[in-house]
Amino acid sequence: MNQPAMQGLRLNLPAYVKNARLIAWVAEIAALTEAADVYWCDGSADEYQRLCDQLVAAGTFKKLNPTLRPGSYLANSDPSDVARVENRTFICSASKEDAGPTNNWMAPDEMRQLLQIGDQALFKGCMRGRTLYVVPFSMGPLGSPIAHIGVELSDSPYVAVNMRTMTRMGRAVIELLGTEGDFVPCVHSVGAPLQEGQADVSWPCNTTKYIVHFPQTREIWSYGSGYGGNALLGKKCFALRIASTMGRAQGWLAEHMLVLGVQSPSGKKSHIAAAFPSACGKTNFAMLIPPAAFNGWKITTIGDDIAWIKPGADGRLYAINPEAGYFGVAPGTNAHTNPNCMASLQRDVIFTNVALTDDGDVWWEGMTDTPPAHCIDWQGKDWTPAIAKATGAKAAHPNARFTVAATNNPALDDSWDNPAGVPIDAFIFGGRRSTTVPLVTEARDWTEGVNMAATMGSETTAAAAGQQGVVRRDPFAMLPFIGYSMADYFQHWLDLGAKLQASGAKLPAIYCVNWFRKGADGKFVWPGYGENMRVLKWMLDRLDGQGGGTENVFGVTPGYADLTWDGLDFSAQQFDTVTRIDAAEWRAELKLHDELFTQLDFHLPAELPAVKARIEARLAKAAD
Ligand code: OXD
Ligand code: MN
Repeated sequence: MNQPAMQGLRLNLPAYVKNARLIAWVAEIAALTEAADVYWCDGSADEYQRLCDQLVAAGTFKKLNPTLRPGSYLANSDPSDVARVENRTFICSASKEDAGPTNNWMAPDEMRQLLQIGDQALFKGCMRGRTLYVVPFSMGPLGSPIAHIGVELSDSPYVAVNMRTMTRMGRAVIELLGTEGDFVPCVHSVGAPLQEGQADVSWPCNTTKYIVHFPQTREIWSYGSGYGGNALLGKKCFALRIASTMGRAQGWLAEHMLVLGVQSPSGKKSHIAAAFPSACGKTNFAMLIPPAAFNGWKITTIGDDIAWIKPGADGRLYAINPEAGYFGVAPGTNAHTNPNCMASLQRDVIFTNVALTDDGDVWWEGMTDTPPAHCIDWQGKDWTPAIAKATGAKAAHPNARFTVAATNNPALDDSWDNPAGVPIDAFIFGGRRSTTVPLVTEARDWTEGVNMAATMGSETTAAAAGQQGVVRRDPFAMLPFIGYSMADYFQHWLDLGAKLQASGAKLPAIYCVNWFRKGADGKFVWPGYGENMRVLKWMLDRLDGQGGGTENVFGVTPGYADLTWDGLDFSAQQFDTVTRIDAAEWRAELKLHDELFTQLDFHLPAELPAVKARIEARLAKAAD
């Protein structure tokens, strides 16, 4: 047998694979990891079903009741592998300065020793006894000028089926690559090789975890986790960390943003991109149903988590959703908070770490007012309301997730798959803050908006491992996701704005929101969810030059009379509670901005401290 034929046999190379770089790389990784077999995913429905059946047989998936939840499965992860691991996430740029002070950094050569080259290199033999799945995927509509291609090599069939829902995955992507096409190589292993005859566990993983990015060579290596953003490498690793470095080099933006369309009763369509930290309601906002009083208004979803935004020939910014599905947080999702999401979850869903009911369906905290009398919790234990009361045990893990195709969403925008993207009219930035930050503020100009986004703070959530409810600065909601130095990223936003403005284009407006302010009783004051339409409508009024508002120390805020209140009992006093700017709180807040600016001192654009100085001057004047 000649060499290529031998290689073709070992790699199980389908005839349609013609990209020499891809073939050589798959061969290299198969050899490094000593995978027992190589399987090329074609992305077909048959293949998806076969892999799901295989996951059921392996005990990773439970098939849900086909009458109650057709085509759906439940996976329970290892209890140690439930969220993104930010402290194990590395940006291995050539210099530490380029990764910036907010990222973990290791020199590329040192990291390669650890992963690939050294005697004890983690990826050496890490797929023994397992199949290596070749998962070709496009982030964005196939062939879109805004889209890019990746290939993930993973030893997890759970990853392969999730990637089919979350991306455009399979043979068509390989065909688009042709002989010369470029792709981002992504290597993933659960880090649990099997010895001859060793029985597998239902959720293989390793206590050692590395989520590694090499921006210079645009490579991703992930080891030890099978969960979400750690393992589905198209999402946070490619579409945010690596893509943000591509965007810097090529003049575009990769953002942690939902994108929605909003249509007025007169038929006018606008598009908004909104950044919120993980588990702060991006999916709910992207699928919002306006209150009854907003008859004729319609919100449609382009994306719920990530936006790739490139300048068009007309100088406007055009956004695509690089993903094809939603990997959303289940707890708290219900018919009130997100009816469109609940409708999306009726069939063909992969649930991870929610509870299993006695009739073979799923449940999570907040799904229904009345919990089931009994269910099996996400760790496989009996759960009853009495047990929960006595022990505080959760039926679903707070970061339990659903994976579902965008096409399941009844509010999907007609242009969600448009290769040209949609033009962005406004950006929204929102943190989770119980105090200080008002309901909504409009930036007076691009620089003021960039400063708002850069200094955003938010209370931490269960989406990442670690302490929860602590306020941390989360600039642009990108703290865990930026692939280079945060200060250089701020500069990139300023430069892009200046370039578009110089071309005569009208820049999108920028708003800062906070749905989460609490009253003296510790309860949220603003009703949120569908009622956020009232704030959105004010923004659209402003974009039309109609909306009222007054200038405050750091932007423009609406007065009570500037919002539409039909159908909602929300008093002027409650409005004051969510919009009041307390000078003492703001002085304390600005000290935190100072700390951030000190941390990001290297390359920090001078425009940002200048905006801060103006805010301080206005604050001092207001106090006079
Ligand atoms: C996510 C996250 O999964 O931000 O979207 O953690
Ligand atoms: Mn996210």
